[in-house]
Amino acid sequence: MLTKARIAVLVSGGGTNLQALIDAQQRGELQSGEIVLVISNKPGAYALQRAEKAGIPALTITRKDCGSTEAFEAALLAALEENHIDLIILAGFMSILSADFTRRCPDRILNVHPSLIPSFCGKGMYGLRVHQAALDYGVKVTGATVHLVNEIPDGGRILLQKAVAILPEDTPETLQRRVMEQAEWILLPQAAEMLSANIVKEKRHD
Ligand code: GAR
Repeated sequence: MLTKARIAVLVSGGGTNLQALIDAQQRGELQSGEIVLVISNKPGAYALQRAEKAGIPALTITRKDCGSTEAFEAALLAALEENHIDLIILAGFMSILSADFTRRCPDRILNVHPSLIPSFCGKGMYGLRVHQAALDYGVKVTGATVHLVNEIPDGGRILLQKAVAILPEDTPETLQRRVMEQAEWILLPQAAEMLSANIVKEKRHD
C-alpha cells in the first residue's frame, strides 16, 4: 500500500525552494509525500549540494548532453518512471516542458512562480526578470503563485497565491528575497502536502 507520494523536485539553480521542501519534510509538515529524487538541468547547480546534504539522490540531465528537447524530455521521463515518481515539483526549474511532456502527467506537476499570475508570467518570465518587470510596471503589490502545470507556460490551475508588498527602495534582488521569504517558501510546501495527500487518497481507492 502506498503510504507516501514519491516526489521528484526539478531544479536549475540555488534551490532555496527545494530547501523549503526539505525543511518542511523534516519538520513533519510535508508528511504525505517524500522527496526521493532531485533532478537538475544545470550542472553544478547549488541545489544539488542541498540534495546531497539531505541524503536525497540527485541527477543532472542537460538538454545539451541529450542533443535535443525530445531526447532531454525522454531522459527526464525515464528517470521519473524508474523512480516511480507520483508528483513532480518544479522548484526554480528554468526550462519549459513541452505539451507532449505535460500531457503525460496531468495534475501531477506543480510549479512555483514569483508573481501573482496572470501578472508577469509566461514564456521568458523567470527569476529576477519577473521582479524587474513588476518594478518597471510600478505595481505596489506582487507575490507568488503555486499552480499545476499544463501545456500553457504558467497557465495551469492555480492552487495557492500570496500577496507581498513592494517597497519604494526595492531592487529586483530585495524583492525576490521578500517574495521567497513571505510567500514561496510557505506556499510550495503547503501545496506539495495538499497534492501528496490527494495522491495517497486516490491510490488507496485504486
Ligand atoms: C524562485 O523565485 C522561483 O519562483 C523562480 O526562480 C527562483 C528559483 O529560486 N521560478 C521561476 O521564475 C519559474 N518561472 P531557487 O532556485 O532558490 O528556488
